[in-house]
Amino acid sequence: MLRQLFVWLSERKDLQAFVTRNRLAHRAARRFVAGDTLEDACRVLGELNTQGMLATLDFLGERTTNPTEAHAAAAMYRRVLATIAQRRLGANVSLKLTQMGIDLSWDLCMENMVGICDEAAQYGNFVRIDMESSHYTQMTLDLYRELRRRGYGPDTVGVVIQAYLYRSERDVEDLIAEGARVRLCKGAYAEAPDVAYPRKRDVDRNFVRLMERLLVAGRYPAIATHDEAIINHAKRFCRQREIPPTRYEFQMLYGIRRDLQRRLVREGYNLRIYVPFGTEWYPYFMRRLAERPANVGFLLLSLLRER
Ligand code: FDA
Repeated sequence: MLRQLFVWLSERKDLQAFVTRNRLAHRAARRFVAGDTLEDACRVLGELNTQGMLATLDFLGERTTNPTEAHAAAAMYRRVLATIAQRRLGANVSLKLTQMGIDLSWDLCMENMVGICDEAAQYGNFVRIDMESSHYTQMTLDLYRELRRRGYGPDTVGVVIQAYLYRSERDVEDLIAEGARVRLCKGAYAEAPDVAYPRKRDVDRNFVRLMERLLVAGRYPAIATHDEAIINHAKRFCRQREIPPTRYEFQMLYGIRRDLQRRLVREGYNLRIYVPFGTEWYPYFMRRLAERPANVGFLLLSLLRER
């Protein structure tokens, strides 16, 4: 219930301005967001790299409502890629197609993605297309495949699959056959029971099933979860199958389970942290609250303390 409520709130554009202006909410969001500027993000990236962690930078923004904003977001991503290269940071980028203008026009979105992929290819870097709600799943895979047809390789652009969708088993098999680089996550949106498993234990079971397929047959899959039981399962599975830790990476969100992040690095696993930055943190923050009701208590407590 609470999860549904926060996912619904995350989509309320009218609340965004109100919450974003609130100083205390802003401070609470900083647990999950590197800061407002690229410079803030680079500082966090430097710290993560020093601790042996890689990163993927997300310039916050989604469901862009005009072409100017979409072009500006694309320009920022090109700047991010150039900055990563200049400063020799260990990071790639993650972006959302609704930020690149897919709701406005396919051609606009494609033009933006081509510009970003060109920049990434120039530096030998990588662009991950995040997966949004199920309304966008097919569109996202179609656009990804169009980029591949236009010559961008699997080490330049990759996608995300959500274990909560029934269709994901088929998508994973197709993407494995295409040699795609896939990030596997559980899924962060509110979906109807006719498209997604409503029960968490079924999502977890499907995650493990898809993860095993990707670990055996996928191209450098990214296992994106903070679920310790699943992470332990992945480690055991790879040991048994003699899949070396260089063949895949774990991924986690900035600010979540830092203890587990440090432990994985100590144990010699590749770990990439998803680092968001920018002022459009409202929907991202709301989804993080949706994932864990305890975060709401944490937020309320810090708001009370600061009164
Ligand atoms: P689960 O929700 O079962 O949590 C396991 C444990 O992790 C919890 O018990 C708790 O300890 C900790 N935890 C999880 N979420 C927390 C939170 N918000 N605050 C504090 N602790 C928390 N989704 C999507 O739909 N499209 C996408 O493109 C992506 N991309 C993406 C990239 C990366 C790198 C990650 C790690 C995740 C995503 N996600 C995503 C989000 C994903 O779908 C999912 O919502 C979250 O990862 C939470 O699920 P877990 O796998 O962590 O498991």
